[in-house]
Amino acid sequence: MGAAAEADLALIPDLEPFGREDGYATVAGYLRIAANYQLITDNLLDLSHVEFMHPTFAAEEFIETTRAELIRQGTTVQSNRWKPQCKVSRFLRMFWTSDSVRGDARANMRWHPPATLYLDVGVTEVGAPIGEGVTLPFAHLLTPETKTGTHYFWAMIRDCRVDDAELNEQVHRIVTSAFADEDEPMIEAQQQEIGPDLDLMSLRPVLLHPDAAAVAARRVLAGLIDAERQPRGLAAGSPDVGASAGAASE
Ligand SMILES: [Fe+2]
Repeated sequence: MGAAAEADLALIPDLEPFGREDGYATVAGYLRIAANYQLITDNLLDLSHVEFMHPTFAAEEFIETTRAELIRQGTTVQSNRWKPQCKVSRFLRMFWTSDSVRGDARANMRWHPPATLYLDVGVTEVGAPIGEGVTLPFAHLLTPETKTGTHYFWAMIRDCRVDDAELNEQVHRIVTSAFADEDEPMIEAQQQEIGPDLDLMSLRPVLLHPDAAAVAARRVLAGLIDAERQPRGLAAGSPDVGASAGAASE
């Protein structure tokens, strides 16, 4: 979108390990959501929704040890969710060869403005370092079409069972179902409730702790949009969001 001459390749977020040539299998999909792209970002940054809306991805029990972490760095917002010693989800068990019922699971979502998200989802044996278990990098790439319509491209890569075409089909079916049957109706219902013209924040919504990352991202985005609207030469560039990190339990 925008003037092609102003496109800057250096601004494309690095979603490493996406883009590596070999050693990974890729499953990708697409949905068109009848909602503003920011509502989809809200959903993706509130990782607590997984436990309520996605039985296949949930930890199969409510875990009191879950730790949420919000990290802001420059214009990037990261929403981490650590689930130590939890019952490993049905989805992760498709990739995990361990016999352990419990593991240290995580879902860490990084947002780059305006709407590029990278999710590191995985599990290790309890106490083991990340990298020793399963790591499933997900990309969520949102392209606004209209105020209330978004093209939602997603991809997941894996470095295990890379030649398993049947697993590719299973992953595609499960992820598509979760997004289309579980997230999409909720997000579109939100959009219908809000209507086509209002911004969510203008309605002064009740904000809960898991909304912190989404609110942080909305603030960064609002600052960038304001800066872009300034007359040329006056644009302040990135909003001063600073770098901070915080952790809290819910
Ligand atoms: Fe979801």
